[in-house]
Amino acid sequence: MAELSLKNVSKSFGSYEIIRNACLDIADGEFVVFVGPSGCGKSTLLRMIAGLEHITHGEIRIGDEVVNDVEPADRGIAMVFQSYALYPHMTVEENLSFGLRMTGNPKADTERRVQRVVDILQIRELMKRRPKQLSGGQRQRVAIGRAIVREPRVFLFDEPLSNLDAELRVQMRVEISRLHKELGTTMIYVTHDQTEAMTLANKIVVLRGGNIEQIGAPLDLYDNPANQFVAGFVGSPKMNFMSAEVVGVETGNVTLMLSNQGNVRLTLPLKDTPPAVGDKVTLGVRPEHFTNADGGIANLTVKVDVAEHLGNTSYIYANVASGEQLIIEREESRHDKTRDTLTVAIKSSHALLFDSAGNRLQ
Ligand SMILES: Nc1ncnc2c1ncn2[C@@H]1O[C@H](COP(=O)(O)OP(=O)(O)OP(=O)(O)O)[C@@H](O)[C@H]1O
Ligand SMILES: [Mg+2]
Repeated sequence: MAELSLKNVSKSFGSYEIIRNACLDIADGEFVVFVGPSGCGKSTLLRMIAGLEHITHGEIRIGDEVVNDVEPADRGIAMVFQSYALYPHMTVEENLSFGLRMTGNPKADTERRVQRVVDILQIRELMKRRPKQLSGGQRQRVAIGRAIVREPRVFLFDEPLSNLDAELRVQMRVEISRLHKELGTTMIYVTHDQTEAMTLANKIVVLRGGNIEQIGAPLDLYDNPANQFVAGFVGSPKMNFMSAEVVGVETGNVTLMLSNQGNVRLTLPLKDTPPAVGDKVTLGVRPEHFTNADGGIANLTVKVDVAEHLGNTSYIYANVASGEQLIIEREESRHDKTRDTLTVAIKSSHALLFDSAGNRLQ
């Protein structure tokens, strides 16, 4: 088990900078999740921690050791990939013990470690099978088992569940969470899946174009995104963004006109230095932060485009005249249908404001 830190870590491939000045502190036993759009550098960052990519600048520490020049095998990390990479001609048991046998680990200790994995992952009945006789979920369990037998200081996971169907993903997600509680080992996990990020992480790192945009606890990022990018990236369905113009500024308050929502006006509290009258800003409202007409600060009249009724809740995709689409959650209405006209209000305490560069105004 170990803490891990990145200090000003950068990575270039040729003249193309993939990771820029990444700084990150991970405490011993933390579960950290990297999220961000495709190509933003998540896997590269993970591979640098693993030692599979050299870093161009900066310092990576695991425990109290700088590992920049330490070979992957000597870093005390174990990595689990999306593709299981099991040896096809070996049984599960042989797959689990292979790495330890190769390094000359004493036989009794190898057996003890394999037995422990079998107990933790409950895979006793699979031990004599070969990978092709296993389901996708079982293969991934074995791949995770192969990481556990190494008793690493840090586990690295790169989208380990993305080949699995929806139901198995949920099951494996719960297993990984249980595994983390049981082992207490530091874990770093890359995913595209919002639910995995929100439920597994103690800490989420949001990346964009090689930069760390924000680091925080899942609900902190959800409630208090640092900028419009993080606000739009964390949460599913996504936060709505509405173009607005500042039409009035008083101490502690700003009045906006929603230019694409029938010029509706609303006033929000604002602690920061306020923008100036005439400035273009963006109002951010999560789908669940709409309420019934007159229940909030501004009434918007919208036309239902698509209504998704999920049973416990409904998502309404609504169009407004100027073409901005809104996603509105309506827990208590299962009856809205295409072409209905709805009036909804915004819950003021949850609305967020961003300047034209996407920075948060609070
Ligand atoms: N060996 C390489 N040589 C040159 N460019 C590379 C190399 N490996 C990755 N890249 C580039 O680095 C960027 C980051 O890639 P990376 O695989 O880290 O993204 P990612 O966030 O993991 O994306 P995804 O979500 O699609 O897996 C991409 O633009 C990619 O094309
Ligand atoms: Mg990747």
